[in-house]
Amino acid sequence: MQRANRLAKRRVALLFYESSTRTRTSFELAAKALGADTTLVSSLSSSIEKGESLKDTGITLKALGAECIILRSPYSGAPYLLARTTGLPVLNAGDGMAEHPSQALLDLRTILQFLGISSSAVQEKALRGVTLTICGDILHSRVARSNALLLPRLGAKVILCGPPELLPESATGMGPGIVIERDFDAALRRSQIVMMLRIQAERLAGVQIDLDEYRSRYQANAERIAANAPAALIMHPGPIIRGMEITSEVADGPQSAIAQQVHNGVPIRMALLERALQANASTAAKKKGGPK
Ligand code: CP
Repeated sequence: MQRANRLAKRRVALLFYESSTRTRTSFELAAKALGADTTLVSSLSSSIEKGESLKDTGITLKALGAECIILRSPYSGAPYLLARTTGLPVLNAGDGMAEHPSQALLDLRTILQFLGISSSAVQEKALRGVTLTICGDILHSRVARSNALLLPRLGAKVILCGPPELLPESATGMGPGIVIERDFDAALRRSQIVMMLRIQAERLAGVQIDLDEYRSRYQANAERIAANAPAALIMHPGPIIRGMEITSEVADGPQSAIAQQVHNGVPIRMALLERALQANASTAAKKKGGPK
């Protein structure tokens, strides 16, 4: 079957309780590229504003024919609750400070492209010998958490870098293959790949940061990158705050993979949607043909 028709007329609901540009648009384009019908429910223009719960919103979307829900929520674990209450496949488009799995998968695709490894031939330890630094607001970052779970499974060494306020010592408990390095220049010298993160002002909740000191110690700027990581791939999940964690020279420079990461969002999310809806279809078929 043509890829454009694989999910023809299947109904996909995008339920977004937080703002998003990349994730929402690429999930929507991915669903449409497969022929699915999409609808967007955002917390600011729906009955969620009137106090309707996540559970009731999910039940309502299911009653309207949704077969899969893509959820972004400020609450960690919300996708599991929604999947349990609706029985539908729920794709996590970012939940609180917990996870952003589709972002980690598109980041992995970007890394594999940089290394010249075909995504269809990924070996168990495809990233053995590769060191990646994630620098910035690790504490509040679901992107950091999902990448720190995924990349070491393929053999990568992950260095987490940032000040103690944004990277507590307990982050080493994230798993094997993870180390903390406070000196960004030292981390850069050991890395083939660098992932910058913005400071998540919306989740700081009283944490005080001296921004001038932060920039001087942790900003990816042209001088620092040229001196310590002149051949490294520079990544950022976005949104970027130019002049804070990264300068325009670096974000728009030849080492930057930021646009490629965004581009990779569509094929990755197409694959996730196909998988979720095909699994859903086979479960429904089994139930239909099951014991009478
Ligand atoms: N990377 C990411 O999640 O971006 P958005 O918040 O724009 O979706």
